[in-house]
Amino acid sequence: MNDDLTPDDTGSDEASAAGVQGEEAALTDGGSGSNRHAHKGFSSKIGFVLAAAGSAVGLGNLWRFPYLAAKYGGGIFLLCYIALAVTFGFCLLVLEIALGRKSGKGVIGAFAALNKKFKWFGFICLAVPIIIVPYYGVIGGWVTRYIFGFVAGDGLLVGETATVETSAAFFAEFTANPWQPLVFFLIFAALTILVVVFGVQKGIERISKILMPVLAVLAVFLMIYVLCQPGALAGVQKLFVPNFADFTYETLLAALGQLFYSMSLAMGIMITYGSYMKKDASVSKCARQISICDTCFAIVAATIIIPSIFAFSPDPEATAAASGPSLMFVQLPAVFNNIPGGRWIGTVFFVLVFFAALTSSISLVETIVSVLRDNCKLSRLMSCLVVFGLMLALGSLSSLGFGPLNMIKIGDMDILSIFDYFSNSILMPIVAIGTCLIAGFFSDTKSLMDEIGIRKKGYSYYFKIMIRYVAPLCMTAILISGIFLKL
Ligand code: PFF
Repeated sequence: MNDDLTPDDTGSDEASAAGVQGEEAALTDGGSGSNRHAHKGFSSKIGFVLAAAGSAVGLGNLWRFPYLAAKYGGGIFLLCYIALAVTFGFCLLVLEIALGRKSGKGVIGAFAALNKKFKWFGFICLAVPIIIVPYYGVIGGWVTRYIFGFVAGDGLLVGETATVETSAAFFAEFTANPWQPLVFFLIFAALTILVVVFGVQKGIERISKILMPVLAVLAVFLMIYVLCQPGALAGVQKLFVPNFADFTYETLLAALGQLFYSMSLAMGIMITYGSYMKKDASVSKCARQISICDTCFAIVAATIIIPSIFAFSPDPEATAAASGPSLMFVQLPAVFNNIPGGRWIGTVFFVLVFFAALTSSISLVETIVSVLRDNCKLSRLMSCLVVFGLMLALGSLSSLGFGPLNMIKIGDMDILSIFDYFSNSILMPIVAIGTCLIAGFFSDTKSLMDEIGIRKKGYSYYFKIMIRYVAPLCMTAILISGIFLKL
């Protein structure tokens, strides 16, 4: 395999594709080769699995999962999450990967290939990464700032004088500043785009093969370190011992919502990555490996965060209940500060979050880039520049929403939260429902099953019932609860 460090498909795609074994999968379409991506796919099965797992493992695993687990009863939440992951989550993941691989196209082409009448639905699906990636980049910028804060030993974050109040002041001061967050956002966005410019094999696959093992080592190291601290066991107990009395339908809904957030479903990513997958790899085997990897990371992250809160926070329940940015950027730094060697533990933790966010952000950008290349016939470089411009425009709005634009609010939601709410609570459930219904009722399900590799009759019935009825019903429950209960 020709593997030098030049972008792998920025120029003439067909020319650069010629003679390279690895892209065959993306160039062949059941032998016709005419209407698939004209550019390279992943060179190997492991490359695909690591890239898709890199997309799935992100901010969702590192702060959203631990916070939800703490809020919704620990062990019982974990149990619901795992049960839903192997049933509902797995089916949706398999479906999206198969849609991508079957069509060999980005989201718009994939829906058109499913049924010409539903090409328009691809645009709705595309809206999700367009809305998410700018504000995801802003949060990535915050994480970058925190790495510098811990390395430099900033007095508000680390040291004897640092407390929850000082880290809250650090966060508020930093995010309210009009320029600083923009600079760090720019760094994060530029890094994301740089990887995508290098292409699927030499950018995304290469970085995922390096970063995913690094992520695993960092996470396991942090987990062992935290578990060795006195008092950590109370947190482990909270997380792993289910108390059935804590079960409510909210536990189930929260686990369901987290699942499709965490597995990067309903945002076109798995369709896009599936379109780059080799034809000889098994869709269901790969999906199994991706979901195992994603769930393990979520559990390890929760085993880092919850026990450290229980061991070191003066008020563990209140700290664990802190949601969103407050948990990661305010409470956790104060917790790390009480752990021996906290400055370096904090540094390692934020480096971990940074890498996880980077691989997710890359997948969101690639989803948009693949459409620009397929449908607008732009080069990879040009497509990346368009997405970069879009990220800067929308991301700056989100970032300034904490400073000069803080008067723009809907209810108590700032600009970033408005984007987050609209994409995650409204658009994503709609996309998931639509995907299941279009695939289940308005497409050739037989060829979809073949793509997945489903041969047994029982499994085929199970899969059909899941995507036609169970998944749309579950997603409707999430949509309704998102709108009315703001869960
Ligand atoms: N699955 C990734 C995560 O858990 O962070 C990626 C992601 C999910 C990005 C949802 C954005 C998002 F709204």
